[in-house]
Formats: sequence, structure tokens, C-alpha cells
Amino acid sequence: MKHRITLIPGDGIGPEIASNVVRIIEASGVEIEWETHYAGAQALEKFGETLPKDLLESIQRNKVALKGPVTTPIGKGFTSVNVGLRKALDLYANLRPIRALPNVPSRYPELNLVIVRENTESSCGHKANIMKLSDGLFLDCFRKVAAEFPDIQADDKIIDNACMQLVMRPEQFDVMLLENLYGDIVSDLCAGLIGGLGLVPGANIGEKGAMFEAVHGSAPDIAGQGIANPTALLQSGILMLRHIREREAADQTENAMLKVFAEGKVRTRDIGGTANTAEFANEIIAKMQ
Ligand code: NAI
Ligand code: MG
Repeated sequence: MKHRITLIPGDGIGPEIASNVVRIIEASGVEIEWETHYAGAQALEKFGETLPKDLLESIQRNKVALKGPVTTPIGKGFTSVNVGLRKALDLYANLRPIRALPNVPSRYPELNLVIVRENTESSCGHKANIMKLSDGLFLDCFRKVAAEFPDIQADDKIIDNACMQLVMRPEQFDVMLLENLYGDIVSDLCAGLIGGLGLVPGANIGEKGAMFEAVHGSAPDIAGQGIANPTALLQSGILMLRHIREREAADQTENAMLKVFAEGKVRTRDIGGTANTAEFANEIIAKMQ
């Protein structure tokens, strides 16, 4: 079966990692027709809008997208394309698996937890009373739903304490359900626990579609050098393959990636190696044949 999937290469390191991830995914033999679209500054320049109608229609039609990072101007300029996409498509749940990989220097080489982040609302308002109301509602909902599933042990923590606990004893957490802003901050913190942002994938899921993207941003400090780690986007792509029920292709891709990590010979610079993006991708592809 041929799948049609929307591809947003994005900005900065986005096109470099996206092209390599597409090569790896295609080496699994899965048949995908990619519909490539621009977003953000690139789209603004070409089409006069940051979220072109064609892009939204493409995702609405295909119901699946793979997305590279998109730069958001700080403090001025257009509003976040990432938030815009998640809201426009109502991708309310953001899944971020934090799994340590072999031969990556990190403090917690056994860590495995999942962050589930609320993705379309926000309490990042700056009035404390609003924060209290929105976070209070979030907690009430959590407790209500938790009561319906007594076989799942549920516990809540105030976010500052949760951060301290995460740094000291992260193994006590299996799944963390977090409000939008906290989920964003805590996922970068957790990425740091397992060796960095180059590793952690994400899935944005709603009733009508799903968009897969890394947790990291466009990394302007290393963009254009071909040295970024494509693992985070690759793992997002593997989640995407599972979502479209291409289990064999997902397993084949994941096993090849894990083999390369287990060998530890070909690693990108962010995790202590010397390989560039394409060399690392080639090594994974070689393991698939
Ligand atoms: P960032 O995540 O782009 O970079 C933070 C640090 O991690 C940098 O030192 C970077 O070199 C490193 N890093 C990130 N990804 C890497 C990779 N794959 N391989 C190796 N090193 C990697 O965060 P920053 O610099 O705060 O944001 C840059 C831009 O990205 C901003 O415009 C921001 O708004 C945007 N952004 C977009 C996201 C998205 O599209 N989902 C998510 C987060 C940020
Ligand atoms: Mg973030």
C-alpha cells in the first residue's frame, strides 16, 4: 500500500535531517509519496503567509505529517507556526518518549519514560490567578480520569518539586502528564538526562490526524554544516510508521538504528562522535540491507 504523507522539512537543520530521515525510511521498502510543503519564514517569503492553506489542506487530506523544526522569531514577528499547526489541526496530545540509547554519554543510561503533554491550550498567561484556575482544572480532570482507572497508580506533583525529583531520581517516573508549558520545559530537561536534544522524538496526535516531529528546534548554531543528529526526527518517523501500521518497516528501521547505537562506532558530534548527518544515516541504511 502506498501512503501519502505531508513532509515539512522546516528551517535551520530541518532540511538536512529531514532528507536523511526520508532516505532511511525509504530504505525499509515502505512506499510513501511525500507532499513537501514550506511553513514559517520560507512560506512567508514564497506565498505571503506562514501557514499556507495548501499545507493545512495537505495534512487534513493525508492525516499524517512528518515535520522538521520551524524557527519562531522571538518577541516580535509572526506567531509560532508550531502552535498554529497543532491548534489548526487540533492535535491536542503530544507524546514524547524519553528513552536512553547505548553508547550515548548520559547520567541515566537506563532511563525510559514518556511525557504526555497537553498541546493546544496554555496557561502561559502571566496572571497568577489565571495560572491557578487553568492548572487547577487540569489537576481536577486528571484526578477524575485517574479514578476511572484504579489499576493505574496515579500521583500528582507540583512542577518545581517534579523537576527536582527528575534530576535526582528520574527512574520513579513512567508516564508524566503535563500541561503545555511545563511539558515543553520538562521535555528538554529530560532530553538532557539521556544525552541531549538530538535524540528525543515527538508525536502530535488528535482525532483527525497526527504530526510527527522532534522535540528540538531548528538549531541555528549548527545549521548548514550537515552535522546535526537526525535521531530525534528518525525516531519520530518510526513512531509515524507505527501510526500508519507499517510495523515491519518500523521494526526494521528501529533495529538498524539500535544496532548502530549498540556498536557505538558511528556517532554524531553532539553525543561524542565524529560522524556527520549523512554518514550516520548511511550506517543505519547499511544495517538494513
Ligand atoms: P534548539 O532545540 O534548536 O537547540 C538547542 C541546542 O540543542 C542547540 O545547541 C542545538 O545545536 C542543539 N541541538 C538541537 N537539535 C539538535 C540535533 N538534532 N543535533 C545536534 N544538536 C542539536 O533550541 P533553540 O536554539 O532554543 O531554538 C531555535 C529555534 O527553533 C527557535 O526559533 C525556536 O522557536 C525553534 N523551535 C522550534 C521547534 C519546533 O519546530 N517544533 C521546537 C523548539 C524550538
Ligand atoms: Mg520545546
